Amino acid sequence: MAQRVQGTEDLYDGYMRAWQHMQDVARDLFESYGFNMIETPAIEQVGTFVHGIGESTDVVRKEMFRVFSGALMERLLEAGSESGLKTKQRLAMRPEGTAGVVRAAVEHNFVPQGGAPKKLWYAEAMFRGERPQKGRLRQFHQVGVECLGAPDPAMDAECIIMLMEFYKRLGFKPEQLHLCINSMGDAKCRPAYRESVRQYIYDHKDQMCEDCLERAEINPLRSFDCKNEHCREVMKGAPLVTDNLCDDCAVHYAQVKKYLDEAGISYEEDPTLVRGLDYYTRTVFEVDVPQAGVGAIGGGGRYDGLVELEGGKPTPGIGFAVGFERIALALQAVGVSMEGEEPGCVYVASTSADERDAAFRTTLLLRQAGIRTEADYQGRSLKSQFKQADKHNARLCVVLGPDEVAANAATLRDMNTHEQAQVPMDQLVERVRERL
Ligand code: HAM
Repeated sequence: MAQRVQGTEDLYDGYMRAWQHMQDVARDLFESYGFNMIETPAIEQVGTFVHGIGESTDVVRKEMFRVFSGALMERLLEAGSESGLKTKQRLAMRPEGTAGVVRAAVEHNFVPQGGAPKKLWYAEAMFRGERPQKGRLRQFHQVGVECLGAPDPAMDAECIIMLMEFYKRLGFKPEQLHLCINSMGDAKCRPAYRESVRQYIYDHKDQMCEDCLERAEINPLRSFDCKNEHCREVMKGAPLVTDNLCDDCAVHYAQVKKYLDEAGISYEEDPTLVRGLDYYTRTVFEVDVPQAGVGAIGGGGRYDGLVELEGGKPTPGIGFAVGFERIALALQAVGVSMEGEEPGCVYVASTSADERDAAFRTTLLLRQAGIRTEADYQGRSLKSQFKQADKHNARLCVVLGPDEVAANAATLRDMNTHEQAQVPMDQLVERVRERL
């Protein structure tokens, strides 16, 4: 039997309705904040991800799915190396949305120097070659936002406020959500801080794992996220970024917190929150639902250097993304369903084969009026058509027999009360609409 790839899921029926519901909630909320939808390609040049996300991150080093055509793959296998590949032949599936949106912003000059901020949102599949487990997939879905051109801490606060409102609208209670924030400094203060963490790791090298020693070389801040319990314990003594912010970053961070306090958003400051992507500067944040135990259900932050890394003019940016599958699991854990019911419909039934043509015409008439309509395609008996109607969650049945056809009318049957009445064909659409 054909099987889906491990770590991927099929979205259908209730699960699909849940994904659509999440997008509807996102559209309503984000568009009220002035965000417009964007879709970028699922494949980009590898460089787009490497520049922004960072060469040393797990996402780029280990998890990015590379893409080769069959013909190119054959050539590569023959050559035994990809060193002869041109930049435009080095492709990857997007592991996240920010780098692609920023690439598009640079390519289409979304934010001309001094222009108004550009606010974009997306709902897309992402691909990461991670080891599949509960809440960790190889193809998963994110809803995310990116705002380019706004350095003001009010934008950081607005993004976080909007994110928390999004969770509320999906059915979480504020007390079920745990929001962590931090400031990671900027190009002015982070290099010195990074150096002091590197030195700290070297000073404790006997107690750290091999991976952390490698990280110390390329990106020492990653050690705060080490899966090894012992390393994490040692890192508790490492210098904290919040003690090493320059004045500008400290003022920016204080202002973000002030706005969050004013908006009544509760948060915990976590000076070890470094996130898994290198492009962040200043504010970073992450949300989880402790009682669900599925990991972060969303995260984001500011990335004031990313547009330049993608080849554009210096432009500040901030955004976040949430994971659909983890949110679905977390909502389940707190007893909320996003699935909703299959929408109700009208079922067109006919008493015998003689009325099939009339049923065909009536079905078209109702559908052209935008009414969700089902009909029989298997020549069932009337009783079995009523059973089918129930399975389709039909609220009304339009019944056509010889008398109805002769009178150019239809019998309208309420599937709950079983009341029925004859309706002239030219009033059918109106009467169905009234009762749906
Ligand atoms: P991220 O923290 O890597 O950030 O991912 C955001 C969310 O996507 C996570 O909190 C989680 O809910 C979900 N997620 C990530 N990986 C997986 C996976 N393998 N399986 C299931 N769900 C997953 C970003 O992607 C940034 N681009 C967010 C951002 C936007 N920052 C600024 N703008």
